[in-house]
Amino acid sequence: MRFVGTVACLLAVASANAIRDLRTTLATRDNDPGSRAQLTYPANYFDQVINHFPNNSRYAPYDKGTFKQTYYYDYSYYKPGGPVFLYIGGETSGRSRWSNLQTGIIQILMQETNGLGVILENRYYGTSYPFNDSTTDHLAYLTTEQTIADNAYFAQNAVFPNVTGNPDLTAPGTPWILYGGSLAGAQTAFSIKEYGDVLYGGIASSAPIVVTQAYPDWYDPIQKYGPTDCIARINAIVDNFDALVRDNYTSAIQHFQSLFGLESLTALRDFATTINYPIGNPGFYSTNTWQELNWNSTYGSNDFFAFCGNVTDPDPPESVRELDFALASYTNGTPWDGLGGYADYVKKTVLPLCPPPYELDSNDCFGTHNATYWADTANGGTRSYIYTSCTEQGTYISAPETGPSLLSRVVDTNYAQQWCTWAFPAGMYNSIPLTPDTTQYEKYGGFDFSQPRLAFIDGDQDVWLDLTYHSNFAPSRADKTGQGAESYLITGAGHHWDSYGILDVSAEPQFIREAHRWEIRTVKSWLRDYEEWKAAR
Ligand SMILES: *[C@@H]1O[C@H](CO)[C@@H](O)[C@H](O)[C@H]1NC(C)=O
Ligand SMILES: *[C@@H]1O[C@H](CO)[C@@H](O)[C@H](O)[C@H]1NC(C)=O
Ligand SMILES: *[C@@H]1O[C@H](CO)[C@@H](O)[C@H](O)[C@H]1NC(C)=O
Ligand SMILES: *[C@@H]1O[C@H](CO)[C@@H](O)[C@H](O)[C@H]1NC(C)=O
Ligand SMILES: *[C@@H]1O[C@H](CO)[C@@H](O)[C@H](O)[C@H]1NC(C)=O
Ligand SMILES: *[C@@H]1O[C@H](CO)[C@@H](O)[C@H](O)[C@H]1NC(C)=O
Ligand SMILES: *[C@@H]1O[C@H](CO)[C@@H](O)[C@H](O)[C@H]1NC(C)=O
Repeated sequence: MRFVGTVACLLAVASANAIRDLRTTLATRDNDPGSRAQLTYPANYFDQVINHFPNNSRYAPYDKGTFKQTYYYDYSYYKPGGPVFLYIGGETSGRSRWSNLQTGIIQILMQETNGLGVILENRYYGTSYPFNDSTTDHLAYLTTEQTIADNAYFAQNAVFPNVTGNPDLTAPGTPWILYGGSLAGAQTAFSIKEYGDVLYGGIASSAPIVVTQAYPDWYDPIQKYGPTDCIARINAIVDNFDALVRDNYTSAIQHFQSLFGLESLTALRDFATTINYPIGNPGFYSTNTWQELNWNSTYGSNDFFAFCGNVTDPDPPESVRELDFALASYTNGTPWDGLGGYADYVKKTVLPLCPPPYELDSNDCFGTHNATYWADTANGGTRSYIYTSCTEQGTYISAPETGPSLLSRVVDTNYAQQWCTWAFPAGMYNSIPLTPDTTQYEKYGGFDFSQPRLAFIDGDQDVWLDLTYHSNFAPSRADKTGQGAESYLITGAGHHWDSYGILDVSAEPQFIREAHRWEIRTVKSWLRDYEEWKAAR
C-alpha cells in the first residue's frame, strides 16, 4: 500500500485542496482573511516525558527519558488575558492540522476570545517519535493514557517565546481549552475527565468514546442517506457476489474479478476491499468516500456521488451496459444492474493508483497478505495507528452479519486482526493482546460520559456516529434533561464538519453556522466562570 500515505480508519483522506502547499509565514500578525489560509507555522519542540506512569507495571522497564514533541502555535489574535486553545493532533502529523489554526474552528474561537491556538502533535506521529524505530517494545508507550497525560503535562509546561513579553501561559493559571476531532476528540474527552483540575475545558467533535471489536455500523449512514438507487444496486451486486462465494463458483468469481481488472488479486477479501475503495473499507483506502464529503468542497470531495453516478447512469456506453449481463446466467438471466458502471469506475479511478511496474497483488498496491511487509519496524503513522487499533481501539470495519451490505461478507474482523499478528510479534517486554483490549479505552466513561466544561458535537450522517455521544446505541437521555453532557448534534453533517471554517461564520450554511455559534457561546460561558474555578481549586 505504497500510495496510502497516512490514511487510517478514523482519519478523513486529506484532499488535494486541503493539503495545498502553504508558504508564507506568520511574520505579520495578520488578520486579513485573504492571507490567513496561506499562513505557515515554524515547528517548536517540547521535551515530553516518555513514561508518565513510572510505577505502573504495564510500562516496565520504565523508560526515564524524554522525547521531542512538535507543536505549532498561532498568536495572531492573542491579547493578554486570552485563553489557550489546544488542538489535539490525533493520528496524523501536526502540520496536516494547520487549517484549523488558519481558517478552522481554532481560528473562530481565537478571534472571538483573543485566544492563542496551539497544535500538539500526537506521540508516535509526524516528527514526534520517542524512538528511532517502532518495534513492539518501543511502541509500548503508545497508549491512550500516555497520550492524554502528554496533553496535561504540555499545558503545564509549554512556552510561547514569540508572544510579546514571553508571558507564562501555562495551565491552570491560564484557561486551556482543548479541541479534537475524531480519535483526537475522544482524547480530548478523556483528557478533560482525567486532568480536569489542570485543563479547563474541551470540545470533543465526532469523538469515538466507545469502541468495539467489529464496526459494520460504519456503513449505516451511507445505507440510510446515500442515493437509494445506487445503494440498492450495490447491495444486490454484493449479495450476488457473496452467493458465488457461498456456492464456490470459482470460475465465476474469477470472471467477476476480471471485470474490475483485478483477477490477479489472490485473496478474496483483498479483492472485496479494493472494489470498496469508492465507498470505504477496512483499514486503508486512498480514494475519497462518504467520509470525505464536506459542507464546503474546498475541504472535502464529492467523489462518492460521481461513483454513484456511474453505478446508476441511465445512459451508459454499450460496452459498459453489457457487463451488467456478464454473470446473468448465475441469476436466472437477470442482469446485475450497475455492475458495468461499477467495474468501469474502479478500473478508471482505483487501478491507476497502482501504476506499472507495481504488482496489483503486492502490499505496494492492493494485496495485504505479505507478512514481511507488516513486520517492517520503520517509524510511520500507519504503523502507529494500526498498533493502537490492535491494542486498545479495535473497531475493525467489517461486513454486517445481517441485513443489506455494501461490503462483501468475505470481510470479517479477522482480516485486520491478521495484520496485527504479522506486524507486532512479542518483544522482550511488550506484546499485543489476542484481540484489542477495549477496556483501556472505555475506562474513561463509555456512553455515559459527562464532565463539567466538556462538550460533545457530532454529525448525524457521520460514519463514526455510532461510537460517539450521539450514537444510536447510547442510552436515551430524553428523560434526564440537564443531566447529560453539553452536546449538539448537527443535522446533515458528517465527520467533525465543525472543524472547518471560511473566516466568516455568518456566511456559512445555516447548519454549520448555528453549530459554530453554539460552540462560541459555550466556550464564552465557560470563560466567564474561569476566575471562580481558579480561586476554588
Ligand atoms: C512511584 O513510587 C515512588 C516510590 O514508591 C514514589 O515516591 C513516587 O511518588 C511514585 N510516583 C508516582 C508518579 O506515583
Ligand atoms: C537507534 O537507537 C539506538 C539506541 O538509541 C542506536 O543504537 C541505533 O544505532 C539507532 N539506529 C538508527 C538507525 O539510528
Ligand atoms: C519566532 O520569531 C523568530 C524571529 O522572528 C522566528 O525565526 C521564529 O520562527 C518564530 N517562531 C514562532 C514559533 O513563531
Ligand atoms: C472450491 O472449488 C475449488 C476448485 O474447483 C476447489 O479446489 C475447492 O476445494 C472448493 N472449495 C470448497 C470449499 O468447496
Ligand atoms: C463517472 O465518474 C467520473 C470520474 O469521477 C465522473 O467524471 C463522471 O461524471 C461520472 N459519471 C456519471 C454519469 O456520473
Ligand atoms: C514482501 O514484502 C517485503 C518487504 O516489503 C518485500 O521485500 C518482498 O518483495 C515482498 N514479497 C512479495 C512476494 O511481494
Ligand atoms: C468554501 O470555502 C472557500 C474557501 O474558504 C470559500 O471561498 C467559499 O465561499 C466557501 N463556500 C461555501 C459554500 O461556503
